Amino acid sequence: MWTLGVSLLLSAIGAFVCNRLVKEYIPIFIQRKMYGNDQCKVSNDPVPEPMGVICAAVYLIVMFLFIPFPFFKWIGGDLSDFPFIRFAAFLSGLISICTTILLGFADDILDLRWRHKLLFPTLSSLPLLMVYYVSGNSTTVAVPTVVHSFVASTMHITLPTFFDISYLYYVFMGMVVVFCTNAINILAGINGLESGQSVVLAASVVVFNLVQYPSRVFVGDTFCYWAGMTLAVVAVLGHFSKTLMLFFIPQTVNFIYSIPQLFHFIPCPRHRLPKYDPKTDTVNMSMAEFKEKDISTLGHLIIKVFKLIGALYIREYEKDGEKWLTINNLTIINLTLKFTGPINEATLANILLLTQLTFSGLAFFIRFYVASLVFDV
Ligand code: UD1
Ligand code: MG
Repeated sequence: MWTLGVSLLLSAIGAFVCNRLVKEYIPIFIQRKMYGNDQCKVSNDPVPEPMGVICAAVYLIVMFLFIPFPFFKWIGGDLSDFPFIRFAAFLSGLISICTTILLGFADDILDLRWRHKLLFPTLSSLPLLMVYYVSGNSTTVAVPTVVHSFVASTMHITLPTFFDISYLYYVFMGMVVVFCTNAINILAGINGLESGQSVVLAASVVVFNLVQYPSRVFVGDTFCYWAGMTLAVVAVLGHFSKTLMLFFIPQTVNFIYSIPQLFHFIPCPRHRLPKYDPKTDTVNMSMAEFKEKDISTLGHLIIKVFKLIGALYIREYEKDGEKWLTINNLTIINLTLKFTGPINEATLANILLLTQLTFSGLAFFIRFYVASLVFDV
């Protein structure tokens, strides 16, 4: 119990120090030309970026200071009693988080290629999965009761309640890690959204912080990857990676909706964040424009399907005798704007954060109510 107290105290001190350091480092970031421009504001003032690196550094220091406390009662005693596996779990989690912070910082500075953004977190999840493996943790999934009774009545076979999917479970957890590290970063680009969604996500695991407008700093890729990886580590070590995926439903929908652009079936501009209109101080959908003949059959098919289900704004026109298409960039941020029309940036962030909150509620409902109906748990 007192470990929780120490953790709360260290976190509070961490939050305070972090706040102070961010303010202290603002001029230093500007001086070193580490800044971005707020694309949804009239003013072109430089906004320090990636400020997430400060928070990540404070987080690591807090974690290092915290290390002795959960293991206090074993220190100085008989070594054979020491819970090495729990200690290894803690350290391997930190290694995965540390390397992800490095990846995020590199991405902020260098704008990494997609293949590196996917390969690196896959490899940095290995220490974590290794510890999961040696600690003999479960790789079983529950079989839904419907499937259970269906198979029993039709084929007269009794399936086990739990099914061991063995190494596939590691593949799944590895994918959770890669997904979580990238998911927050591609649902980004309006003030308060990156930190806001992480707060809602973290609050679904524990209660946390508040959001500020307008941005005086940008958190950067460093923050997005770090937040995602931390949530993934906590979920893998805490054995709730499947429940975590429920909290990530908005990010999953955003990822699936993004796939045609991420895999370049449809052209993907460098930025997909909403387009700012200084006259009305509102944001609206940002667009991708391309010649009709420049995209593949698959691209056309995707456009047709998205249009059919009402999930796409599309305009066709002719220029220099050629047919051109304009569609909204495929993020749920733009999709929201398709339905609401131009709105204020803060309103948009609130709608999206409220959606995140609603899905967290839904996730709890599914996990604790629906799961008990569907599974024999
Ligand atoms: C990801 C998205 C990209 C989106 C960008 C915005 C994909 C594949 N990539 O790219 O579409 O445009 O995030 O973060 O989906 N910014 C603001 N206001 C904010 C936050 C950020 O204007 O509240 C702008 C700033 O100019 C800032 C820049 O976004 O400098 C940061 O972009 P960066 O994190 O480098 O983009 P990516 O993560 O590569
Ligand atoms: Mg980013």
